[in-house]
Order: sequence, then structure tokens, then C-alpha cells
Amino acid sequence: MKYYVMTLFPEMVRQGLNTSIIGRAINRGLLSLECMDIRAYTTEKHGHVDDYPYGGGAGMVMQAQPVYDCYQDICRRTESAKKPRVIYLTPQGKTFEQKMAVEFAEEETLIFLCGHYEGIDERVLEMIVTDNVSIGDYVLTGGELAAMVMIDSISRNISGVLNNDISAETESFSDGLLEYPQYTRPEVFMEKRVPEVLLSGHHANIRQWRREQSIKRTCERRPDLLDKAVLDKKELELCKKYLPIS
Ligand code: ADE
Repeated sequence: MKYYVMTLFPEMVRQGLNTSIIGRAINRGLLSLECMDIRAYTTEKHGHVDDYPYGGGAGMVMQAQPVYDCYQDICRRTESAKKPRVIYLTPQGKTFEQKMAVEFAEEETLIFLCGHYEGIDERVLEMIVTDNVSIGDYVLTGGELAAMVMIDSISRNISGVLNNDISAETESFSDGLLEYPQYTRPEVFMEKRVPEVLLSGHHANIRQWRREQSIKRTCERRPDLLDKAVLDKKELELCKKYLPIS
């Protein structure tokens, strides 16, 4: 996977992604990350990349020219015949979710476009953007944190990025349910014991207990997810027990 991030703050994105699991995946060559400084492409002699909005109103708008030229430079570098998807981070986009992370992970190249101020001149967005994506219903000061969230979440679905690929499959959301609780040593912490079944070594019982815990958690914390979860008859009965009475 090759990521390109078009931004006014390339250092922020570079720094944010070069630690831990994603940093290691970059060092191992499983991913590449190029943070492109939009300001470097302006033809304006003072280095400005924004201007007042036509029609008036508060704030500044990022100009089309540096964004377009930055995009063209990325296109020159990518050899593949297919035009890469360009994701514009905006609260007006489709809300990012696990299914999208899995789908984006299939791409060879992804370009992220981060806006600032009151946004970007609509004309260049019409010309280059293929996907408008939001990371939730709140407003950030720029698209960088949203791009970083997406890159983190997409990358962990790329083979080899996580130490054990199984953990991407058994965790929250992979089957439409939240993950079961986890425990590690010691067996007793401040008089609280690890659930007995986990010490039993009985794999079928452990699997069943975990499945029930997943269902319980989902009922209690995110009942909205149950619509899409695949549950058998017995499990649907369990939900009745755990769902908060509304
Ligand atoms: N830019 C500003 N707010 C955002 C959000 N919620 N998601 C994605 N990009 C944004």
C-alpha cells in the first residue's frame, strides 16, 4: 500500500504515524507514506495558499492551484494504469466505519486530501476527489487527524502489519459484535479473580463464554449494532436477557 497525504502540515502526519505498529510496517516496507506539502506547489510569490471567500463570510478558503498541482505531481509518481482514489476528509462525507477500512485496504495506492480553514475551492474538489469521508459527527480544525485515523485503521487490515492476522478477525466489529473482555496475569488482582472458565483449558467452553460475553457487551453498550450481527435463535434469546429495558 502506498499512501500519499496532501497537507499543509506534513510533519504532523509523518510524526503521528511513524511510531508503534504503523511505523514498524513502514520500516519493513509493507506500507509507504509520502506526506506532500501543498504549500510547496503554490505559484503565489508570497507562498500563500488561501484567500477570502467569494461572496463574503468568515475565514479563508484554500485555493485550487496548489492543491491541483500537488495532485498532478502525485499522479506522475504513481505508475499504475488505474487512477488512485482521492479521499477528501470532511465532516460532510460518508461516516468512516470498519467495512470501509477493509475495502480501502484492497487498494494499491490511496491519496488523502486534508483541508484547513473554511475548506477548499469547490472546483478542484470536483476535479480530483473520488470519496468524501468523515470520521464522525464533530468538527476538527483540519483533515490531518482524520487522515491519520483512517490510515491507522486501514493499515491493520493489510497482511503482515499486525503480528497475528487472526487478531484482526476476532476483534470488535469483525462479526458485527464488540469484542469479549480480556485478562492476563496475575490470576487475582486486588481480590478480583479472572473468570474461572479461562483457566480451565476447555477450548469449547472458552469459545462459548467469549461469544456470550460479546453478545452481552454489544447489548449493553452498542445495541444499535445488533441489527447487522448474525445471531442464531439461542443467541437472540440471550439478547432479551441483556438488552437494557427501554
Ligand atoms: N475535517 C474536519 N472535521 C472532520 C471530520 N469530522 N471528519 C473528517 N474530516 C474532518
